[in-house]
Amino acid sequence: MKTEVIKVEHESDEGILKAAELLKKGGVVAIPTETVYGLAANAFDEKAVAKIFEAKGRPSDNPLIVHISELSQWDALVESVPENAMKLAKAFWPGPLTIILKKSNLIPLRTSGGLDTVGVRMPLHPIARAIISAAGVPLAAPSANISGKPSPTSAKHCEKDLDGRVPLIIDSGDCSVGVESTVITLAGEVPRVLRPGGISVEMLTEVLGEVEVDSAVFEKLADGAVAASPGMKYKHYSPSAKVTIVKGSFEKFRDFVEGMEKESTVALVFDGEGRELSVPFIEYGKAHDGLSQAHGIFDALRKVDETGAKNCFARFPEKDGVGLAVFNRLVRAAAFSIIEL
Ligand code: TXA
Ligand code: MG
Repeated sequence: MKTEVIKVEHESDEGILKAAELLKKGGVVAIPTETVYGLAANAFDEKAVAKIFEAKGRPSDNPLIVHISELSQWDALVESVPENAMKLAKAFWPGPLTIILKKSNLIPLRTSGGLDTVGVRMPLHPIARAIISAAGVPLAAPSANISGKPSPTSAKHCEKDLDGRVPLIIDSGDCSVGVESTVITLAGEVPRVLRPGGISVEMLTEVLGEVEVDSAVFEKLADGAVAASPGMKYKHYSPSAKVTIVKGSFEKFRDFVEGMEKESTVALVFDGEGRELSVPFIEYGKAHDGLSQAHGIFDALRKVDETGAKNCFARFPEKDGVGLAVFNRLVRAAAFSIIEL
């Protein structure tokens, strides 16, 4: 299959109609969102959705998030919209928040990965919303990477993973947030965050009062345990380098990595720190700035692989605000390996 890449800057650009046409015919299209690029298909069309799983190499029990462009589309997708859900939507939509509720019969099991719930999100990105509107149906869309690779935050990343596997990639530049949406479930007794993202736990707590954070956000799932979110049981990005997160001051970090073999080491550090190192380095965002780190983390992780290094040592991101999402992605890439100096 030949993959076409079309640049789209404005909501009136022709690429939007082209994407919508393909989606209406049951095709898949890689589209930009403010979090990461998504691989979209008609959420109601099982055959179309099957193409997403095939192109990504995604396990069939891993549910897809359904994207809407208008609040009025939500009702048909779920059994009911409780008060808490409406509060969250009012506070954070459009934006990087996915809300899980019991699904309606309109959502095929193929889309929900066999679950009786569905996660819905209204993206903020104007091009994403224009594509959903033009397609005229809610769009199921996981991140547009091959399963097991870092999520794509540019059209180039999508091309790298999906060239020859999808007919169309819409290129609208870099994603502003850079990590995937926060996933919260309201299908249980207490609202529970299954994946941290662009909307922080602090922000959610302010609106809902009580919010739990699933232990799989911080820790490795115990062998045989059932994952609240199926995506958490799959090995995420596993780079060819062994990644270790190093907790401690920059000075201690520097002394530690300077003792490593230069040829096989890469340091993942904050902006401006690289010039004080003699080992190869990649900078992934400003220190003490979760938003900036979120923006850079996936591109940095892709670059780690390109260096061919055997060992990667990463500076420890702070776990508050959006920093928790950065920590969560990095600790998975590190297979939960953290050392404290
Ligand atoms: O920002 C995002 O959320 C991006 C963009 C494209 O919108 N999408 C995204 O989708 O990250 P994906 O499929 O790569 O990640 C969705 C995660 C998976 O870990 C999945 O298991 C979980 O959310 N998830 C989706 N629906 C769920 C449900 N009904 N119950 C539990 N977990 C669910
Ligand atoms: Mg993903």
